[in-house]
Amino acid sequence: MSAHRNAPPRNAAAVPAATPAAVPAHVAIIMDGNGRWAQQRGLPRLEGHRRGSRTVRAITTAAFELGVRYLTLYAFSAENWNRPRDEVGGLMRLLEIFLRRELATLRKNQIRLLTIGRSDALPAPVRRQLAATIAATAAHTRGTLVLALNYGSRDEIADAANAYAAAVAAGREPPGGCTWETFARYLHTAAIPDPDLVIRTSGESRVSNFLLMQSAYAEFIFTPVLWPDFTKENLAAALETYARRERRFGLTSEQMKEKLEIRN
Ligand code: IPE
Ligand code: IPE
Ligand code: MG
Repeated sequence: MSAHRNAPPRNAAAVPAATPAAVPAHVAIIMDGNGRWAQQRGLPRLEGHRRGSRTVRAITTAAFELGVRYLTLYAFSAENWNRPRDEVGGLMRLLEIFLRRELATLRKNQIRLLTIGRSDALPAPVRRQLAATIAATAAHTRGTLVLALNYGSRDEIADAANAYAAAVAAGREPPGGCTWETFARYLHTAAIPDPDLVIRTSGESRVSNFLLMQSAYAEFIFTPVLWPDFTKENLAAALETYARRERRFGLTSEQMKEKLEIRN
């Protein structure tokens, strides 16, 4: 009888080569609660989005100061097009203004901008500003800000499946050879590591079609704070909570401790 008979197949992909560091390399945030923030003050929802875009600027700077390397912000979902026309229009204008204003800060802090989502469906002025900011920051190496715009995880997976099928048809991928690693190269996130920590503000405990596959082994933190009220201190507290957790990637606690000892 083979000695390997009872050994289950190994899925090396889930376990990172190095044990996870205390500071998450990639933080992804579902920025929720702008509308409720405004409604609580008797203000129009758009005022909440305006205040939310200020928080985006503050948290982007804070995250990289705290040692995060990748920050992904869910700014507009594929489903958000179904909101009232005025709100969608206002959000698009805010996005354009944000991209224009943020360029100086991205330059100063040497942060590059990337985007995930079907950005080709965004209004032309936003697309132009997005392309300009991405090009102007492409050589920056201190950190990466990823904006999820017209993003939906299911759309992304459908896009990747189509691209993968086309690659098989063209002979660039072997038929029947699909693995998670090869398939992931066709996702919008191909150039971005998986998130280590996903934060959602506003008290909702759902992922709303955000990075469904990529967050397979992410830690989740749900906070009641509404996005316009979210501060650097809230982010630092989330990073502390993350640092106290033990990520096991399917291994035992003892195995993880062994890996940690090898690293230190
Ligand atoms: C998040 O705030 C911003 C976007 C989804 C664009 P919301 O606008 O969803 O705020 P709530 O959930 O209505 O409070
Ligand atoms: C998720 O928030 C999308 C963004 C933060 C951009 P939503 O407010 O759209 O999510 P649901 O509708 O509460 O699930
Ligand atoms: Mg919401």
